[in-house]
Amino acid sequence: MITGKRIVPDPIRWGMVGGGDGSQIGYIHRSAALRDRAFALVAGAFDIDPARGRAFGLELGLEAGRSYPDYATMLSAEAERPDGIQAVSIATPNNTHYAICKAALEHGLHVICEKPLCFTVTEAEELKALSGARGRIVGVTYGYAGYQMIEQARAMVKRGDLGDIRIVNLQFAHGFHATAVEEHIPAARWRVDPRFAGPSYVLGDIGTHPFYISEVILPHLRIKRLMCVRQSFVKSRAPLEDNAVTLMEYDNGAIGTVWSSAVNAGSMHSQKVRIVGSKASLEWWDERPNQLSYEVQGEPARVLERGMGYLVPAALAEDRIGGGHPEGLFEAWANLYNRFALAMTRADTSDEAPMRYPDITAGVEGVRWVENCVRSADAGGVWVDYR
Ligand SMILES: NC(=O)c1ccc[n+]([C@@H]2O[C@H](COP(=O)([O-])OP(=O)(O)OC[C@H]3O[C@@H](n4cnc5c(N)ncnc54)[C@H](O)[C@@H]3O)[C@@H](O)[C@H]2O)c1
Repeated sequence: MITGKRIVPDPIRWGMVGGGDGSQIGYIHRSAALRDRAFALVAGAFDIDPARGRAFGLELGLEAGRSYPDYATMLSAEAERPDGIQAVSIATPNNTHYAICKAALEHGLHVICEKPLCFTVTEAEELKALSGARGRIVGVTYGYAGYQMIEQARAMVKRGDLGDIRIVNLQFAHGFHATAVEEHIPAARWRVDPRFAGPSYVLGDIGTHPFYISEVILPHLRIKRLMCVRQSFVKSRAPLEDNAVTLMEYDNGAIGTVWSSAVNAGSMHSQKVRIVGSKASLEWWDERPNQLSYEVQGEPARVLERGMGYLVPAALAEDRIGGGHPEGLFEAWANLYNRFALAMTRADTSDEAPMRYPDITAGVEGVRWVENCVRSADAGGVWVDYR
């Protein structure tokens, strides 16, 4: 259980790139990092607009000299300080992740990067090699993976509660961009422009979330081949898709589907993970994140609840308030940030104790999945061997 006891001996000196005033994801990074005092925000280059970024840093309480106009200045100035930053989070549009992550690793920093990690598997593998060579960790903010019921699902699959895995049914299908909202919302505009978003919109932006959760729950499954079709229902978004359907064959004979969509009109997030085995199924929805549905064939369906004593230890380890009181996305993110802090501290002390968090490999695999989906879709929706 998380009670506020310190996670690491001293808070990690931490900076941010992006996540400026009015950004969508900046605040949850800060909230998660600072929640359990695992990190201390001491520097930042928060905005593409230098003056706005510096002013925002002051509003966040930074020393005037440590709210920087851009990330390059921050990395070199902080490297000169005896109390310079030890880690940096990157919460900027996708096109900048690769360069900023690379520069931060080259400055000897641990990194927490937004997804998708970068545009290509080649870039992602390069970052992975660099992080290994420098002994620095890269965490990737697949934030939903911090929910405790995902740990429960993972343990139940491992325990054999479902039998043989047959079907993996994933979706992240919201309706917020059912019309051309990018005409008046800047954070939506870059998402539908390949120069900023990369080779995909919804596949990389949202499909990668349930895909990562499926990797957590089903670590033993490998995709053999996949087929993907993608559409731009709002025509001006072409060549980027606002809807995509992916079919995947796994090496154990299981079949999987992923529906990634921003045009599921009327729907909220609607992220769903359903795992079907030969004996039973599990289902988790991000709109009911404290619950996990467990359905055994021939028996009444059960709803497992977060915080209850019948859960596995891994699902209780990050509980904060016990059962009956809902926890949410901010807690899930804080759980991940705590794991990032622990991984950084262990890397610094050469502690080899195994631990799991969305790491650089998860980042690489997300990029790989998108790349394979796009390769299939752009060839007309054909089966492609997964590579
Ligand atoms: N993990 C999640 O659940 C989740 C959710 C939303 C967004 N994201 C990801 O977070 C990233 C940012 O998305 P957003 O929705 O917050 O975007 P946004 O457009 O709302 O905000 C981007 C922020 O980055 C700043 N910025 C841009 N370029 C910069 C640069 N070179 N240096 C410093 N600051 C810069 C902008 O000024 C702005 O403050 C994207 O990669 C997106 O995919 C992840």
